[in-house]
Amino acid sequence: MDYQQILQDIEIEIQPLFGKGKVADYIPALADADAGQFAMSITLFDGSSYDVGASDTLFSIQSISKVFTFTMALKYLGSELYKRVGREPSGNPFNSLVQLEYENGIPRNPFINAGAIVITDTLITHYKNDTAAFDAIVDFIRSIADDESIRMNVVVAGSEMEHAYRNLALTNLMKSFGNIDNEAIKLVQTYFNHCALEMNTKMLSRSMLYLANHGVDPINNKAYVTKAQAKRINAVMLTCGHYDASGDFAFKVGVPGKSGVGGGIVAVIPQKMGICVWSPALNEQGNSLIGTKALELFTTKTGLSIF
Ligand code: DON
Repeated sequence: MDYQQILQDIEIEIQPLFGKGKVADYIPALADADAGQFAMSITLFDGSSYDVGASDTLFSIQSISKVFTFTMALKYLGSELYKRVGREPSGNPFNSLVQLEYENGIPRNPFINAGAIVITDTLITHYKNDTAAFDAIVDFIRSIADDESIRMNVVVAGSEMEHAYRNLALTNLMKSFGNIDNEAIKLVQTYFNHCALEMNTKMLSRSMLYLANHGVDPINNKAYVTKAQAKRINAVMLTCGHYDASGDFAFKVGVPGKSGVGGGIVAVIPQKMGICVWSPALNEQGNSLIGTKALELFTTKTGLSIF
């Protein structure tokens, strides 16, 4: 298959969509992003990769980081984790509070904000403090992306903390139900810090390979999670990776994926490749509008999907 040609065709076909959608503006430091940007990368099991667009440009990974923190928590806690966070789609926006109240502070899944905050809480407990947990998260991401240069954008992290009202509300509500062990401010800051890590589409497509290959990096053979855990992470990405648009993403694209409000989406083609697409303008549910379309075109043109 001529992947380079397919990516180039996709880049042409998405052009009419520029100008549609809206860059995330609830985090002032993200509101400055140029909506005209686009990049897409795929990385195969032999390490070969194909890219189009601004694939070297770093962007804020935001909620894509939730795939990595979920992976780490699952590795350390195993199925104990599901006592504190579920694995059902929420059908609600990523930052919604309502369900938490009547579901006793147990978030529906690890990819909505409340779920990701619980996951970060377990990592702080596991690593004894917030700094050590954040360092371990960065080390893990550098390892799966095979790139030591990955850093946090301190301006984005600071900007999120200044507008943390909803995430603090979620955290305090869960704490009132006994589902948060650590101090709320430090926890939310650690969560924002991992959201504010910056990567490009090349790094992120590379970082998906362990999930495409049953938990083992096919290039260097490092084992990160068990085969069963990798299957479950992929399943939760498929059912919950795009919040209240998860059904639509499965319907149109048909592979496990995870979006972030920075405009990135990672996707996994089992036994074949990791993918990342990036374009900052978002649809109503907070997922990259052009990114979703580009992935739909990719699975249609290649015939690669899990169905
Ligand atoms: O919690 C927040 O508001 C952000 N740091 C992460 C949100 C996010 O990426 C949601 N995704 N589409």
